[in-house]
Amino acid sequence: GAGGAKAGKTRNITQALEESGKNCIIFYGSQTGTAEDYASRLAKEGKSRFGLETMVADLEEFDYDNLDTIPSDKVVMFVLATYGEGEPTDNAVDFYEFITGEDPSFSESSDPPLGNLNFVAFGLGNNTYEHYNSMVRNVNKALEKLGAHRIGEAGEGDDGAGTMEEDFLAWKDPMWSALQEKMGLEEREAVYEPIFSIVEREGLTKDSPEVYVGEPNKMHLDGNFKGSFNAHNPYIAPIESSYELFSVKDRNCLHMEVDISGSNLTYQTGDHIAVWPTNPGEETDRFLRVFGLDTKRDQVVSVKALEPTAKVPFPAPTTFDAIVRYHMEICAPVSRQFIATLSAFAPDEETKAEMVKLGGDKDYFHQKINIHHLNIARVLEVVGKGKKWTNVPFSALIEGITKLQPRYYSISSSSLEQPKKISITAVVERQKLPGREDPFRGVATNYLLALKEKQNGEPNPCPFGLTYEITGPRNRYDGIHVPVHVRHSNFKLPSDMTKPIILIGPGTGVAPFRGFVRERKRQVENGETVGKTILFFGCRKSTEDFLYEKEWEEAKKVLGDNFEMVNAFSREGPKKVYVQHRLKERSKDVNELLQQKAYVYVCGDAANMAREVNTVLGQIIAEERGIPEAKGEEIIKTMRASNQYQEDVWS
Ligand code: FAD
Ligand code: 2AM
Repeated sequence: GAGGAKAGKTRNITQALEESGKNCIIFYGSQTGTAEDYASRLAKEGKSRFGLETMVADLEEFDYDNLDTIPSDKVVMFVLATYGEGEPTDNAVDFYEFITGEDPSFSESSDPPLGNLNFVAFGLGNNTYEHYNSMVRNVNKALEKLGAHRIGEAGEGDDGAGTMEEDFLAWKDPMWSALQEKMGLEEREAVYEPIFSIVEREGLTKDSPEVYVGEPNKMHLDGNFKGSFNAHNPYIAPIESSYELFSVKDRNCLHMEVDISGSNLTYQTGDHIAVWPTNPGEETDRFLRVFGLDTKRDQVVSVKALEPTAKVPFPAPTTFDAIVRYHMEICAPVSRQFIATLSAFAPDEETKAEMVKLGGDKDYFHQKINIHHLNIARVLEVVGKGKKWTNVPFSALIEGITKLQPRYYSISSSSLEQPKKISITAVVERQKLPGREDPFRGVATNYLLALKEKQNGEPNPCPFGLTYEITGPRNRYDGIHVPVHVRHSNFKLPSDMTKPIILIGPGTGVAPFRGFVRERKRQVENGETVGKTILFFGCRKSTEDFLYEKEWEEAKKVLGDNFEMVNAFSREGPKKVYVQHRLKERSKDVNELLQQKAYVYVCGDAANMAREVNTVLGQIIAEERGIPEAKGEEIIKTMRASNQYQEDVWS
């Protein structure tokens, strides 16, 4: 969505429900779009199966003090992702603080304050993080404490176990039954009602100045790239240089320097940069072809929401090509529910039967689709045996496919050294999968790879090379550019630079530590005194994927004994050696540094590494200090609470 409440739109939830004649509002707290997606899916299903009058809303766009005025014949749903260290997503911070606050003040002071409120809750979390699904758990607790009535169970989806989608599907059926009973809803034959109308425009072409062909918003369309750059408005940044840090067989890693000097963007060492990707030409073509849109890809269309509460998720008038290439997450694995939805529009009865089976049978779906990581167009191509799916309303695609999301990268440069240049360290996502000839390829990293090749005038070396629209809409930019914004993080060096730091970052997890080490090097060059830095880095082989090998030597020349690098090369000996093994070997030194109030930073893989490092550090503290292991763990918890132990992890 374009974000932010529209001028004149009410922030009063009850009023918004009344004005639009709705009886169900579905709020999402979303960071990467999944929670927002689930919210739309609930809205659609509630409407088509039960005739609920649903609306989806960004938590940020409303005030919460009127929650107590929502009448009991209505229901409020919360779809809430937990982010990072058990934090609310950016758009849910205010709501979270309000609802879990000491004494939230509501507009009417009834007792209990939310005695009339019916709610439904689903959380999106990751069990590899310490505060698993804490957002939905805490909000649920807070709402119940305020007297609200929950309908059905508070659901929890687990991204860590890879079961998010199935957790969601398993949760929602009993929830709908409970809601049906509570609100006296009759289930009806599901009828598809489009939310968007798509009108083909005569007289406009893709070259008309008012037609969007990939520009993210009006400012960009008008060629005006000023203003503040953020999650709704990327800066189209020139790429100053890019090269491969390593390239072996089918693995490679990119280093890219992005110039932000033409913008008012700022960053601090440890922040994240978001890259707005473009879909590859091959997948864009496949998608358009499957739906029979390839012959009219440049047709200009206007897209209007048929419901006052729905938002068109991209700017229009635009073309089918631009919508698919720049705004839809068409490469992501398809969901089982979307397969079930599309079965209604199958080109023939046989195809329909197969789609119904895939949509209804979890194990069959898993075998046929999930393990091959197939995206929607690939599935329809195979299931429909090459037939075109021209019965699918385009509105169903807009509703059912996630918005193309920016990808985040831990900035690997130091803002002290280069305040207007940001570097990215990214490993190119490419996975060989059983039963598939071509590998699964990540959208953003293969786009960055293509930008790098274009910039350096290299031929596309990868056997399944993808082609991307490089120069942007209307070939507007000279040179190679990438749309970006900056997300500020809490992953920061200690304000007291004399404090020792322990950095743990295998693989691309070393990215922010390149920034940290360069920052300390620059501080020393400026005549400052900095504390000890010890960096635990891990990769497969010293000769293969050792990131920034020369740079660490340069740093050592300046930082001297105050900088130590400890390497874990996992595939050089008979046994795997990981960073946590090296930490253990250095127990005594690590404990001494911790007793000197060293700060600990962990970056990289959230699934296993971060947790194992946490465990090992707890053990080190326990063993070295002769205290029980549980006590060691508690000390780590306290360190986390006081920011002395910081994580920047992803899965
Ligand atoms: P994608 O196209 O997003 O695919 C990546 C994987 O996700 C694939 O395995 C795919 O199967 C799976 N996937 C995609 N969509 C779905 C879906 N809907 N359901 C299930 N599975 C799905 N990476 C780095 O290389 N360096 C960094 O410094 C770095 N820092 C990060 C910092 C943060 C805070 C975060 C959150 C992530 C960071 N990442 C970093 C990871 C990065 O953001 C991307 O996830 C990564 O580069 C892959 O992006 P992609 O578009 O190439 O792949
Ligand atoms: P491996 O691939 O040989 O198993 C960067 O990816 C480095 O992190 C690699 O050396 C990789 O080793 C290692 N790695 C894999 N799993 C890990 C884990 N659970 N903890 C720490 N390092 C790990």
